[in-house]
Amino acid sequence: MSVKILSITLVLLSICVCCHSSEDTQDSRPGSRRPCCVDVTKHNMTADVVGPTYREQAARGHCVKAIIFNTKDRKQLCADPKAQWVKDLTAKMRKV
Ligand SMILES: *[C@@H]1O[C@H](CO)[C@@H](O)[C@H](O)[C@H]1NC(C)=O
Repeated sequence: MSVKILSITLVLLSICVCCHSSEDTQDSRPGSRRPCCVDVTKHNMTADVVGPTYREQAARGHCVKAIIFNTKDRKQLCADPKAQWVKDLTAKMRKV
């Protein structure tokens, strides 16, 4: 009985450790699924932005504070949160 509980505890513990470490590496690795913005554009890219939603990225490590839009060719556009065209667009869009 106690052996069973011990092994369950160990399994749960290893799941926690596993999740935690993968979470840590996701942001810092350039090859991860969602690479972060290391640079932003101030240029008015309104014409390229598609979709009703945007994402906000906080500064962390080599990542900078940015607004992330979707563009026509399914790429992501990193924009300067302080730029006027970005403020105009985000006011009309929904944050995800
Ligand atoms: C950016 O461009 C769009 C159209 O392409 C225009 O409607 C908008 O006023 C421009 N915004 C700024 C801040 O220049």
